[in-house]
Amino acid sequence: MANRFADNLTTTFFRRSLWIALIFCGIISLTVPPVIYHYHIHQYELESAEILNRFISEDLCFRPEYLMENQRSRDAAVEHINVFMKFGQLVEFKLWTADATLVYAYNAKELIGKKFSDNSKLHEALASGETVVELESSDDDDSRYLRDHGKLVEVYAPIISEGKVIGAVEVYRAAPKFTLLKTHIALVLSITVILFILLYLLLSGQFRRATTELLGYDEKLEKAYSNLGHSYFDTIRSLIKALELRDMETEGHSERVVALSIFVGERLGITKPDLDRLVLGSYLHDIGKIGVPDSILHKPGPLTAGEYEKIRSHVEKGLEIIGPIEFLEPAAEVIRYHHEKWDGSGYNEGLRGTGIPVSARIFAVVDVFDALVSDRPYRSSMAFDAAKEVILGGRGNHFDPDIVDLFMAVTESEYEALKSEIATNGIHHTVNEAVANLLSRINGS
Ligand SMILES: [Fe+2]
Ligand SMILES: [Fe+2]
Repeated sequence: MANRFADNLTTTFFRRSLWIALIFCGIISLTVPPVIYHYHIHQYELESAEILNRFISEDLCFRPEYLMENQRSRDAAVEHINVFMKFGQLVEFKLWTADATLVYAYNAKELIGKKFSDNSKLHEALASGETVVELESSDDDDSRYLRDHGKLVEVYAPIISEGKVIGAVEVYRAAPKFTLLKTHIALVLSITVILFILLYLLLSGQFRRATTELLGYDEKLEKAYSNLGHSYFDTIRSLIKALELRDMETEGHSERVVALSIFVGERLGITKPDLDRLVLGSYLHDIGKIGVPDSILHKPGPLTAGEYEKIRSHVEKGLEIIGPIEFLEPAAEVIRYHHEKWDGSGYNEGLRGTGIPVSARIFAVVDVFDALVSDRPYRSSMAFDAAKEVILGGRGNHFDPDIVDLFMAVTESEYEALKSEIATNGIHHTVNEAVANLLSRINGS
């Protein structure tokens, strides 16, 4: 069982990890190439500016107007420009004077001689003496010579002589094309899958062994908790036995009230934690009577006020007994409030109505009823129906009316069946289960 669970856990872990890695690779494959491309373009822009500035300083350090005036100089310069066009893989080359007049264009010759006062990038380069670089799409350019070249790097570089800007050169250079590199993505994904298969082959056995070992510890821990629960229950049982040995006539009362409380609690639909508290509390409700003197506890006649006070003190004594034992804390609710009354005339705190916890309201009915149908030192047992009449008489004053109504539906045969069930199987398994549930909730919280 543990092995199969470990197998499933190992498979699930590696399968999910593989998916996460593949998704991660997919994201990386889609996001990294544009970033790299952007970096390359930036480098390309810097390189374009650099080669243009080098060309200007080496081959073009004269006034651009000179090109218009001297045919021989023009031919020599054009020769240099042609070489530069090829070397620099340029798409266009323009030469501007300081007042933004075009004196040379490799392609757009029809514009030569015209002045362009609205070319902002040209004016920026002329005014600042700094190189201006921009990436633009050839489709957006007005010039027919530049179309169908994809992305273009446009560079304006000033021509500076003796510290003065005497003109500018404008070039267009085709930028490297962006491709998603499908083969690279496929390669990355393939490497990821192969690495994962290797990782699975190398680590799955170890992972599985570790999981199996952990599950083994978990089982041992669960067993230890179960043993602890049994030990706790033995402690409770010893406390109850100690009480019943002193008070023989109430023997079996603790077990019957547990069974009856469950019977009523389940029909009332209270929550499982409330039911578990009710079970443990019912079992221990009068544990404080250990501290009440025998002379009072076994007194057949009526009690004096002082004696009655001593009897009432069993609530506080019960809380004192369970106080130091943390796992018995859930029983405190019933112990503390089981003598409260619906109309507020009960003890110890005089709570009323729904201010009394539901477990204690249920228990109050069950406790009184079982006491009535049992022999006590001061009176004989009452018949089943007569006892129910007494309970009905307490409806709305001693007891919660809804719980009384529910209790009235309990038949004598059901009550007898509960008693015979206790006689056959005892109640220890039920209390044991409630203790285990309460413990697991304490540990889980
Ligand atoms: Fe009591
Ligand atoms: Fe009782």
